[in-house]
Amino acid sequence: MKFRKILYLLIMIGFIYGGYRYINYKNSTTYKLKDVGYSNEEIKIIDEKLDNSKVDHLLQSEYNNKVAQMINAKYFIEDKLEAYLNYQKENSEHSTDDVISIVNAGADKDFYTDVKKADTSKGYLILVNKFYELDKNFTFDDIVPISLQHAYSGRSIRKEVLDKFIDMWQDAQKLDLSLIVSSGYRDYNLQESLYTDYSNIYGQEEADTFSARPGYSEHQTGLALDIAAYGSSIDDFEKTKEYEWLKDNAHHYGFILRYPINKTHITGYDFEPWHYRYVGKEVAKEIYELDITFDEYYELFIK
Ligand code: DAL
Ligand code: ZN
Repeated sequence: MKFRKILYLLIMIGFIYGGYRYINYKNSTTYKLKDVGYSNEEIKIIDEKLDNSKVDHLLQSEYNNKVAQMINAKYFIEDKLEAYLNYQKENSEHSTDDVISIVNAGADKDFYTDVKKADTSKGYLILVNKFYELDKNFTFDDIVPISLQHAYSGRSIRKEVLDKFIDMWQDAQKLDLSLIVSSGYRDYNLQESLYTDYSNIYGQEEADTFSARPGYSEHQTGLALDIAAYGSSIDDFEKTKEYEWLKDNAHHYGFILRYPINKTHITGYDFEPWHYRYVGKEVAKEIYELDITFDEYYELFIK
């Protein structure tokens, strides 16, 4: 008799405990995520790396098979999860890594919208792009002329940039490579007249793919150089041995290829094999090795 009572009691306790476990499980994030459609593997990643408030957002949205991949991506920023998901929804042609780069660089908005003033206090690391503009009268005060040995007539650039360009020019020369600056510092008015001409010839939409609007050109910073092989146009630069060398060596002198191939969705410009931007040796090396655009680098590490 006594034994039976104990058995009943144990069964009751088992039921109560089982029920308690079940209710707890039903209220758990794991159960809810499963209910939305996430697999055990995805839930493990979400659980490990995502704050509760972000998990709530996932619970209120439809299942997304890119979430785990996003969370695991190198430059994933938790606070931008909603922006990544929103952008991806509207732009399904982009890979997850591209979506992350675009959002991180702030390029999930239309170019030339929500524009801010460029932070000129950043010096050699200033960012000027389709979201950061310079005042009409802005110029650094150490712009110096470039000699005819190194540039076409009338070109100028910031002093430190010139010194580093000359180092690079000399090393190139030793390899029988002949570099020449085709364009350096351009003030607002010069950029305005270039952009207006291009727009008149090609239409504004086309002009925007290769020319900055006045106030938005890196050339106004005196930190950008368009480099050609001596005797040929910048349009042919990609085919030259000078380009082959420069793209893998410019960072040793502090320069980066500013508008790389296949990065138009971030930079807003077509590939420009000739346009190099001075950022200093350390940052140039990092950007070269990370293989990211300056737009992303700025938002991730400088701003
Ligand atoms: N071609 C570059 C984007 C400029 O106009 O500054
Ligand atoms: Zn340029």
